[in-house]
Amino acid sequence: MELKSATALAHPNIAFIKYWGNRDEQLRLPQSGSISMNLASLHTETTVRFSDDLERDTVVVNSQLLVGDPLARVTGFLDRVRSLAGKQIHADVVSSSNFPIGAGIASSASAFAALALAGSAALGLSLNESELSRLARTGSGSASRSIPGGYCEWARGESDLDSFSVSILPQDGWDLSDLIVLLSHSHKKVGSTAGHSSANTSPYQPARIQDAARRLDICRKAILERDFSALAEISEEDSTLMHAVMMTQQPPLFYWEPRSLAIIKAVKEWRASGLPCFATLDAGPNVHVICPTEARDDVYANIHVLVPDSQILVSGVGGPAHLINPTTVEH
Ligand code: DP6
Repeated sequence: MELKSATALAHPNIAFIKYWGNRDEQLRLPQSGSISMNLASLHTETTVRFSDDLERDTVVVNSQLLVGDPLARVTGFLDRVRSLAGKQIHADVVSSSNFPIGAGIASSASAFAALALAGSAALGLSLNESELSRLARTGSGSASRSIPGGYCEWARGESDLDSFSVSILPQDGWDLSDLIVLLSHSHKKVGSTAGHSSANTSPYQPARIQDAARRLDICRKAILERDFSALAEISEEDSTLMHAVMMTQQPPLFYWEPRSLAIIKAVKEWRASGLPCFATLDAGPNVHVICPTEARDDVYANIHVLVPDSQILVSGVGGPAHLINPTTVEH
């Protein structure tokens, strides 16, 4: 009997310049590049154990056995790992996250980043960072950005070979925080994968993509120069652009709730009156309020007054995906 296992931990990320729309759905080659920061307090930890004794893959996520499409998505991903390693051997996957899944905090990002690293290590592949980022990308686009640490840019690329993420500023390069206002814990009705595939039905998507290089340049420069106000303006613009596409694609996706909009507007007012913060939303109603860590307590207090019943998750900048306890036992 041969038994090989590995455990990896990865953080989700929050995008300042968003990924929305693929030019190749299978390979998840994006229509444009994107930029994000990893979130230190949130993580997914995944153990993958391959064994000749297993007749099929089993996947347990937060103590629940996956079936149907979610299982097929993971098995399809494991098939890629198996084909890279040239091995036909099934796996037990056990994964848990310390934050609510499917509520606009890209759980698929940390999940597929951890799975790419644990799965490839368990089969004895030692992939470098860009190879891992490419592999993670095929499981979930945003997962490519959860492989490197700190502030990451995922290149659109010309093909599968050069569409991966790199760190543009390390974790300790700029001390920002994300205050995630949880307005809903429920699983989103339309997931990102279905949403990406109909992005092109919005007449706004071509304009959004055509302008992406400009927004990426401004965002990258703002991060490298630690220019918070430039980052705030471009990130809010980019988030609104993505949601304008979402709301006008077919079928339309309205992720904003009334309280999301109330926070978006309040954050703009707080910034105008001198409190450094900005708001950005992914595929869900929860609002990510980004601020320099030194302003975190004031921003938190303001949010709490506005939405006293909402839970707020707080995170600094996270590091790269990493193996926790690599073990290879051969019998
Ligand atoms: C709105 O990476 O979740 O969060 O590749 O289908 O898993 P799949 O999509 P996913 O899309 C994330 C979209 C977003 C914006 C972003 O994170 O860039």
